[in-house]
Amino acid sequence: MTRYCLFFSLVFLLSTCFIASGALSAPIPKDKAAEIASYTATMIIAGRGVVAKHQDLINDPNKGNKGFTPEYVEKQMLESFKKMTGKDLRELDPAVQKVLRQVIDAAKMSVAMNQARINQKGKGFKMYIPAVFGRETGQILKARTDIAIKQTTFKYRNAYNQPDAFEKKVLKMFENPDYPMGKGYGAIENGRYRYLKPIYIRQACMKCHGEPKGAMDISGHKKEGYKLGQLRGAISVAFPVK
Ligand code: HEC
Repeated sequence: MTRYCLFFSLVFLLSTCFIASGALSAPIPKDKAAEIASYTATMIIAGRGVVAKHQDLINDPNKGNKGFTPEYVEKQMLESFKKMTGKDLRELDPAVQKVLRQVIDAAKMSVAMNQARINQKGKGFKMYIPAVFGRETGQILKARTDIAIKQTTFKYRNAYNQPDAFEKKVLKMFENPDYPMGKGYGAIENGRYRYLKPIYIRQACMKCHGEPKGAMDISGHKKEGYKLGQLRGAISVAFPVK
């Protein structure tokens, strides 16, 4: 609990420091919105994957310094982004690059803030998991810019992630068995471009979100009882457009 309070006061401090820059970040041109939103969601998924892939390292109680530094994570994210999209960040439109840089900087900030926790010796599970990384990255980005990123789902564990009306509508669409798997959905709503990219339950998620439903997972939460391949939720991206 103390850890969360500490984090929220940090985010609050950050938001007061960065409020000026947030107010200054210009609305994104409508014709670039879909591309920016989809690449932003992919970058978050890449970062989540990097944190997932390094869980054994992060949770190794026998190791102090893990080398899981902001710079290391940035490099891994860029490599994974390239694998996922076939694109090097530097090839992309400058407007897209600018936003993705801000996403990476927010991700690096989350990793930087958690160095003591990650490098703690003698402790196993450290709760620096993809969902925490993703939530913090979104919170930091929101404090610095007009871009909002959320990991949302009907069955949320953290109230911060609960879906709003638009997100509920799109999650319902994604749940329809006829909806194409993996396809994102975007639309303009009240001057903002809103976009959701679905995420699904993979093997690595099962030990916390799988069966038996109601059993305690390693993080102290009740498992939701999801089956492999089921829709877990979505990465939600929103920003003002002009
Ligand atoms: C070690 C246990 C663990 C594993 C493994 C895990 N999760 Fe989670 N997940 C959590 C916890 C704990 C939260 C709540 C985090 C927070 O405080 O924001 C969460 C939250 C989430 C959320 C945000 C919505 C919510 O419930 O608040 C999504 C989406 C999510 N997980 C998807 C996944 C996916 C997809 C995988 C597999 C790739 C996965 N998780 C693997 C423990 C886990």
